Amino acid sequence: MASSTWEEFFAVHLPPPDFEDNRSLLKEFCERHDQYGNKIVLVTSGGTTVPLEHNTVRFVDNFSAGTRGASSAEYFLEQGYAVIFMHRQKSLEPFTRHFTGQKLLDMLEIQDRGPNTSISVKPDSVDVLAPILLRYKAAHAAGAILHVSFTTVSEYFWLLRAACECLANLGARAMLYLAAAVSDFYIPKDRVPTHKMQSACGAPIIQLHLVPKMLAPLVNLWVPEAYVVSFKLETDENLLIPKARAALDKYKHKMVVANLLQTRHHRVILVSPDVSQEIVLTREEVHAGVDIESSIVCEIVRVHALHMRHAGEPVSPPRSPR
Ligand code: PMT
Repeated sequence: MASSTWEEFFAVHLPPPDFEDNRSLLKEFCERHDQYGNKIVLVTSGGTTVPLEHNTVRFVDNFSAGTRGASSAEYFLEQGYAVIFMHRQKSLEPFTRHFTGQKLLDMLEIQDRGPNTSISVKPDSVDVLAPILLRYKAAHAAGAILHVSFTTVSEYFWLLRAACECLANLGARAMLYLAAAVSDFYIPKDRVPTHKMQSACGAPIIQLHLVPKMLAPLVNLWVPEAYVVSFKLETDENLLIPKARAALDKYKHKMVVANLLQTRHHRVILVSPDVSQEIVLTREEVHAGVDIESSIVCEIVRVHALHMRHAGEPVSPPRSPR
């Protein structure tokens, strides 16, 4: 499998059509929060696609629903961070993630009186909806969260680099929390057919190529002072910690959140150069709907504060209304 460099990847794949708009939003958001000395975390979330046709009908995808990213974004807001939520289009998002499927409609009732029809929240749903709605309104009123979205792996990388360019000015106050499930394989642009592949032509033989690891330029060039947390997903327990450690050795960033596909919602291991810390939810916590992201974010915020102190940044609460 051939592999290109990250520079070649950007040279071959053009920016998505909405790229300049997103870049302006990112710039404005980062400058505004930087002005007040706020901390900003970039949370990436959901999976990337690899189109099999330019006019895309079919694509290679992965399992990620964006649960980890959407939930973590809420806890970072709670901890006083401004959040860039960079997510796969149509994956889970902070706050609305609590009401997937029919949940929201089931909480409402309708009084049908012709032109005076009104809709209200059922009394027994108010306690569920109100605290989430309050947090949602507060985050948006304070301009504390910016949503930007991607679908393909190349859109993801263009946005990631643009976000890094804006975050670089914040130095150690910037954090990257790379929870998205990014494709390791892709089809180079010049090998992708323009139109829908025809079954009449027989079964296609598709050769995937390796995507360059963007962690390398990200850590060394794009945001060298930021606190960078990557994620490592495996399905074989025996590979998990060795591969997380190998990533830390190779890219020299601060932490890897290691998780297994099968147990990722109730067990993770935070691996940093000198320690590993396991976080496990009890059966009772799982049944009570506790999010493991609450503990992950709490611990990462604690070590980020040490990183900032070490870098000479004042560790103070945000000064702007967030
Ligand atoms: O969304 P959920 O259903 O809640 O699932 C959450 C999750 C399992 C997706 C999440 O917890 C997780 O583990 N995300 C990372 C999965 C992954 O892509 O692992 P990886 O081993 O393929 O990549 C490791 C790191 O390298 C990632 O942080 C990624 O940002 C980075 N990477 C990956 C590919 C690439 N070409 N360049 C990169 O820099």
